[in-house]
Formats: sequence, C-alpha cells, structure tokens
Amino acid sequence: MGLMVEPSGQACGARVTGLDLKAGLSTDLVAELRAVWLEHHVLAFPGQFLSDDDLERLTLAFGGFGVDPFFAPIAGRQHIAAIRREADEQSPLFAENWHADWSFQEFPPAGTCLNAVDIPPLGGDTLFANQHLAWETLSAEQQARYADLIAVHSARLPYAPDGTYGVKDKGRSMDIRPSEAALAEQTHPLVPAHPETGRRGFYSTLGYIVGIEGMEQSAAIALLMELQSWQGDSRFTYTHKWEPGMLVMWDNRSVLHRATGGYEGHRRELHRTTIAAWRG
Ligand code: SIN
Repeated sequence: MGLMVEPSGQACGARVTGLDLKAGLSTDLVAELRAVWLEHHVLAFPGQFLSDDDLERLTLAFGGFGVDPFFAPIAGRQHIAAIRREADEQSPLFAENWHADWSFQEFPPAGTCLNAVDIPPLGGDTLFANQHLAWETLSAEQQARYADLIAVHSARLPYAPDGTYGVKDKGRSMDIRPSEAALAEQTHPLVPAHPETGRRGFYSTLGYIVGIEGMEQSAAIALLMELQSWQGDSRFTYTHKWEPGMLVMWDNRSVLHRATGGYEGHRRELHRTTIAAWRG
C-alpha cells in the first residue's frame, strides 16, 4: 500500500497513513516523508502505537537527536522526555504559549516528534501556526518593518531558576530542571529562509525571543507583542486532535506550536524527541 497524505484543510498539517513506522524506514521512504513534511509542516501518523525504541529509530532516520536542555529524560533513555500531566495536577499548563522548540540554541532542532502514550478522552489539542503564511500574508510595507531584524533568543523566562518553571514551580509531574544556563543569549534572523525550502517565515516568537538587536527594549517588546498576536492569528493555525497510538512530527523552522488544556481530571502523557538541526 502506498503512502496516503490527507491535508488537514487548515493552515498546515496532514494525516499520513499507508505505512508502518515500526517496520524498517528505507532511505526512499524517509525521503518521501521528508518531502511531505516540508510541504505540510506537521505530520500526524495515526494508529502507529510506537515504542520508545521505535521513536528513537524514527528520530535518528530524520537527522539524529537534538540537544534537550532543562528536561530530565525518562528512565533508561538519553533523548526522550515525557510531556506529562497527572489527572489531579494543579500546576499551570506546560508550554501554553506559542514557541519553536529550543530556538535559543545556536543550532536549534529542525523538528520535534511527539508520541502518544496516554491521551485524554477530550481536550489537550496541540495548536500549530504556519509562519510562512504569517509572513507571506503581510503587505510589502509591513514586511519591510521586520525583514532585516535580528532577534535575541534566551531560555531565561521559562527555565532560569526564577523563571516560569524555576524553583517556585511546585507540584509539576514533568521533570524540568531549571538552571543558570538559561540566561545565555543567541541571535537568529527574525525572518530566516527555511534551510531546506528557501521559503521565508517568522522564526520563533516572544518568550524565547527576548529582544531585537539594536532596538531599545521597550520598543522591541512592543513590536514582539504585536507580532505575536499576528503570528498566532487563526488564519495561520491548525488544531491538532490527538488519538491513542498517534505520532506527530513537526518542523520547528516553519511552525510555532502550543499546548492547550480542557482535560481536567484526565492524565495526559506524550514522549518527545527533538530532531537535530539540518546540516545539508
Ligand atoms: C510541547 O510544546 O512540547 C508540548 C505540546 C503539547 O503538550 O501539546
């Protein structure tokens, strides 16, 4: 049976069937999937029921593991983190703000894989926002405002000891490890060309972006706040609904994502790997 790709009908995302990700991933299949991934940015593979070994094998086939700071991996693995929330957990939702994973790194991950482990019967959707569309929908005059800006990224707001997931964050079931390393800064163009497709789009957003090079801080934050509400506009989004056994893989260079709640009283767990930066 050949690969079947069913676009979500929203701003990005496609459901991919007609393959077994537990079976061998031939070079041809990986190349075919990569092309589909670059076109749709978020791929959902229903009914796969992957083990942690399968998840690692898939991540390796797509470019190897990224470097995952501030999370302790799950027991017995070096590269898998658990995105987990217990049924009775009261801590604020993890990752509820738009972001591109680890954009504060020098070589941020090309993509992220999330494998369903425990999916609540309702809620817990993951939202994605297509940043090529967010860029391309602007007028030339609006684009000129952003086109050459260099963004300053840092993990300090979430992961510094005094950050959102720092020492005051109690009762969270996820194993997050805040550290002073989160204070480091890294620059990236605000609107880079995608390294594989050449298509431009906004990269990351306010939160991991903490300033704009050469711009006074209050002006930078005002610009980033305005931009963030544009980046997450409903015209650019895809609402991903989870199913048991589903694997999702997204491109951090073309979409933002964020978690949502709505599953109070139910447990939710997904196993996550990041895919290393693409080196061409
Ligand atoms: C994440 O941002 O890695 C988590 C997304 C989710 O929990 O839906």
